[in-house]
Amino acid sequence: MKASLGLITLAIAMLAGNVNATYSNKIPPMGYGQGVNFDAPSKNLDADVKTMVKKMSLKQKIGQMSQLNEDKILLPDGTVNVTAVEYYAKTYYIGSYLNNMAGHNGNLNAAGYATNIETLSDITVKAGGLPILYGLDSVHGAHYVANATIFPHGIAQAASFDPSVAYNAAEITAKDSRGANIPWTFAPILDLGTNKQWPRIYENFGEDPYLQSVMAAASVRGFQGNYKTNRTKIAACAKHFLGYGATHSGEDRDSSWIPDRFLYDYYVPPFQAAYDAGAATTMESYIDINGEPVVGSTRYLKTLMRDDMGFNGMLVTDWAEIENLYTYHQTASSPLDAVFQGIGQTSTDMSMIPEDTSFPELLLQLVQSGKIPESRIDESAGRVLQLKKDLGLLAPNGWKADKTLTASVGQTSDQEVAIDAARQLLTLTKNNNTVLPIKNANKVLVVGPTANAMSYLAGGWTIYWQGATVDGWQGAVSDEYFYGNGVDILDGIKKAAPSGTTVDYVMGVDIWGNVNTTAADVASQAADADYVILCIGEHPYAEAPGNIHDLTLPAGILTFADDLKAKLSNQKLVTILTQGRPRVIGDVPTISDAILHTFLPGPWGGIAVGEVLFGITNPSGRLPYSYPQYPGDQTLVYWKDIPDNQHADPLYNFGDGFGYSPMEYSSITASSKTLTSSKSVSVSVTVTNMGEYDGKEPVLMYVQQPYRKISPPTKLLKAFNKISLKKGQSQKVTFEVTADMFKYTGVNNVPYGSLDSGIVNIFIGTQNVTLTLQA
Ligand SMILES: *[C@@H]1O[C@H](CO)[C@@H](O)[C@H](O)[C@H]1NC(C)=O
Ligand SMILES: *[C@@H]1O[C@H](CO)[C@@H](O)[C@H](O)[C@H]1NC(C)=O
Ligand SMILES: *[C@@H]1O[C@H](CO)[C@@H](O)[C@H](O)[C@H]1NC(C)=O
Ligand SMILES: *[C@@H]1O[C@H](CO)[C@@H](O)[C@H](O)[C@H]1NC(C)=O
Ligand SMILES: *[C@@H]1O[C@H](CO)[C@@H](O)[C@H](O)[C@H]1NC(C)=O
Ligand SMILES: *[C@@H]1O[C@H](CO)[C@@H](O)[C@H](O)[C@H]1NC(C)=O
Repeated sequence: MKASLGLITLAIAMLAGNVNATYSNKIPPMGYGQGVNFDAPSKNLDADVKTMVKKMSLKQKIGQMSQLNEDKILLPDGTVNVTAVEYYAKTYYIGSYLNNMAGHNGNLNAAGYATNIETLSDITVKAGGLPILYGLDSVHGAHYVANATIFPHGIAQAASFDPSVAYNAAEITAKDSRGANIPWTFAPILDLGTNKQWPRIYENFGEDPYLQSVMAAASVRGFQGNYKTNRTKIAACAKHFLGYGATHSGEDRDSSWIPDRFLYDYYVPPFQAAYDAGAATTMESYIDINGEPVVGSTRYLKTLMRDDMGFNGMLVTDWAEIENLYTYHQTASSPLDAVFQGIGQTSTDMSMIPEDTSFPELLLQLVQSGKIPESRIDESAGRVLQLKKDLGLLAPNGWKADKTLTASVGQTSDQEVAIDAARQLLTLTKNNNTVLPIKNANKVLVVGPTANAMSYLAGGWTIYWQGATVDGWQGAVSDEYFYGNGVDILDGIKKAAPSGTTVDYVMGVDIWGNVNTTAADVASQAADADYVILCIGEHPYAEAPGNIHDLTLPAGILTFADDLKAKLSNQKLVTILTQGRPRVIGDVPTISDAILHTFLPGPWGGIAVGEVLFGITNPSGRLPYSYPQYPGDQTLVYWKDIPDNQHADPLYNFGDGFGYSPMEYSSITASSKTLTSSKSVSVSVTVTNMGEYDGKEPVLMYVQQPYRKISPPTKLLKAFNKISLKKGQSQKVTFEVTADMFKYTGVNNVPYGSLDSGIVNIFIGTQNVTLTLQA
């Protein structure tokens, strides 16, 4: 591992170094530090922070490493239990709390959070502690704060192939969080979801390491920017380090079996990109990699993260993870041993306890008995304090909310940004006989469960952990908590339909596949319709409650679709998929004339859907994953082909999708036919909008080395640039191809230490060129 020092950083900087044309002015190119000097945690603590740590008692320092859940200090009406906060402050000097604050009427609004969090700090400081670092899972907007603007989930952001979508969402999330007096979010999520059955696919930016890296950097910068001085910014948390998305079975929190080579080449890069973009905090993951629980691992949480990848910020565990070393991972034989492993063996700075307060007591015992040196505590307490200082919490009145920001939560201009994000990501993968956009229709019949609730568009981690439902997990969805902020698909269609087009709705089948109105009855309601818009997908879920044993959508939904198709006459059938992971959909791709993927576009997604159906918006999203055709293909990823095997046969490929204008790729040129480590090659293509609609085209560049000493990936995305082309317009798009794009972890397992000479192919759209790589 020593040999890898610097190599990873170098490889990733190069890997990420060649996109620039697409970035909005706010996002510097990924060749870090060019143009904008965004803040990053520094390796050394400030002198005043060191002094503070010296003055603190052991108990006070351990308190900084301890984070409790809100349920320990919140009353049922959503106000603070002063007695409880005083107790935790005086007994443990608790340094941090987390999670959503809700009262009898749903989540608190920004003013409610702000007051409560001020109270937590007031009481804790009075008791001899320090201002509270409050953390919240604001993973697609400050979705736990009533009336805050909610954005598309990560998978949907990724489908835009536009990093400004991730940047803008993060920027507004940061502002709204500050408005609620929350300086820290547990986002972005960078696990690289390579098992499609996993219930956290939707939180991530897809299956490609490069796409995930670009989005990671944009998101971190959007949250943080100059977070050490700018009080509209918050600390990001790159999570979950590492390998969580490769769950062996597809069940949440199952072991990941990942050879080092794949870990370095595919799973590490998004984290490196986030760290290089300045992520102030990071979170370890729930899983074990090859049997070694990450939360107790020296190798992952010290050597790899700190020494090799150079992460200097604050490392927090996931929920109860140190306790889990005993109760779940079973590598510790007692709670004491668990704390020893979790702190003594790693560089973890904060334990998300969050319920069982034995952590600070056991850690105290371990230091007093000499098992863990006090210097280890100083190191972590120092990093927490430095973060608190950087976020402004230690300044006079630093823990008071900015009332202007509080008042700005949910403002119309933020909602416009969320609507624009949804316009960028809708992905069309079938449009037989150009049935879309809809023209001159007398009647459109909208059918299906996901059409008339924003809750489905928003998914899990929205309002509540399991989504906007009335009674928790798998409860009936309820849009009341959105306070009218958003537009469902049905209303979006009504809004976009020209006068003269009637829009009707019938549910037909529910989200679990129970038939409410028979296909025959639905078909009779469709008798005078030109289009039937079938809206299907998944009920909201988050984490393990979202586990499934079969990637196929409920049989009742698919049978209903078949039955409906059989009873229709000449109506065009358009299917809209609203789902957190790519569910297998049986005959739907065959029987539908058009297929539109919305992923989880957020509560405003309905506006964009309506606009796309009627041609007001030209769709420009691309699939951020391989879409499986069969349930057994849950681990299919585009970069790992299975030659001559029919199961490597996705329904749709990573990167698939098109708009209403055909885009023609032509005239590929390369500045040289020879690529060396010292000389990159510029490769250009011309892209022409051949159709009748102005549109956007994500231009993707893949590279491939057909022969090398470790079996090569099928191909790898290494650059993309989403361009706008008016009808008839052409644009030349140029990418730099560097030798580093072909570095990999070779036979000797040195991260990115291998580069082989030979031919390499560059693919852009329908064009390709072959170069000779001289290593
Ligand atoms: C407030 O917290 C204290 C200490 O944890 C607890 O004993 C008490 O029951 C709580 N009060 C209410 C009303 O829940
Ligand atoms: C959300 O905003 C609406 C409209 O301004 C307001 O009526 C409602 O009270 C707000 N809800 C909360 C919980 O603040
Ligand atoms: C602080 O950040 C906000 C949001 O990103 C930005 O609009 C503003 O210009 C920044 N302020 C300064 C002084 O850089
Ligand atoms: C496309 O539509 C035509 C009828 O216009 C039909 O014959 C054909 O089967 C359809 N193709 C697909 C792939 O759905
Ligand atoms: C089922 O259909 C009936 C009318 O046939 C309707 O009143 C009811 O609301 C529908 N149920 C759901 C969940 O949409
Ligand atoms: C490159 O494009 C040419 C012309 O379309 C095609 O014949 C060839 O198979 C392509 N090469 C690869 C490696 O796909």
